[in-house]
Amino acid sequence: MHANTHSLPQPNKFMHDIKSIQAELQNKNPRKILRHALENYERIALSFSGAEDVVVLDMALKIRPDIQIFCLDTGRLHPETYQFIEKVRQHYKIDIELLSPNHASIEALVKAKGLFSFYEDGHQECCAIRKVEPLKRKLAQVDAWITGQRKDQSIGTRQNINAIEVDVAFSSKEHTLIKFNPMVNQSSAQIWDYIEAYQVPFNELHKHGFISIGCEPCTRPVLPNQHERAGRWWWEDATKKECGLHIAKT
Ligand code: ADX
Ligand code: SF4
Repeated sequence: MHANTHSLPQPNKFMHDIKSIQAELQNKNPRKILRHALENYERIALSFSGAEDVVVLDMALKIRPDIQIFCLDTGRLHPETYQFIEKVRQHYKIDIELLSPNHASIEALVKAKGLFSFYEDGHQECCAIRKVEPLKRKLAQVDAWITGQRKDQSIGTRQNINAIEVDVAFSSKEHTLIKFNPMVNQSSAQIWDYIEAYQVPFNELHKHGFISIGCEPCTRPVLPNQHERAGRWWWEDATKKECGLHIAKT
């Protein structure tokens, strides 16, 4: 195993390498992508949102049973999501690191603007405190992370994702961070087929019309034939439906 991001004297060569690995992985199945990630990066963590990305967790545990798993506990998740996280923890007998937001930042926001300011002036400020800052803290400790992002989750913002990419949002001059999206080319139907075939536990909210699941005040069920992203931050423009965890490469 080689965690290679600390020995990168030539960033251009590295970008070139990434391109060739991208080409190599682009049509591979999720397990092959995960295997590549877990065999090449020692300091790697899996992000779990408490939704259907449980499939990634299930697959990753079969390859590396001691993989680090974390969840951004925004404090605003649905009760069903908290119950599900606990269920997953017990089902797989794993640790899930729950990352809380900085208390001073949250207290200041709520004092200044109340508990639902995102309906008035957009979700970015609250997401920056409850999700992005804790994520940034976590990602500073690893060389690579794994997400459950898929192209079919958003026609507007997720069409350019790759199986492996340099995370331009969270890399710094001193620390190049790699992001793996092993489900990139999977469809929602394939995810649900896996859940059924392997009896993977799932969030109860999926039984009640929820597809994409985020924080409780910012997620609602969708109607038949509505796109899953329509249930997230529904009061905002469709092109802004990213919270800062995932910045697409240009
Ligand atoms: S979001 O950016 O709009 O909230 P989405 O819900 O589609 O993201 O989830 C895509 C991927 O982002 C998940 O599979 C997971 O890897 C990561 N993610 C999203 N929310 C969380 C969370 N609360 N904790 C950990 N990872 C998350
Ligand atoms: Fe805040 Fe909503 Fe973002 Fe959750 S999704 S962090 S509640 S704005």
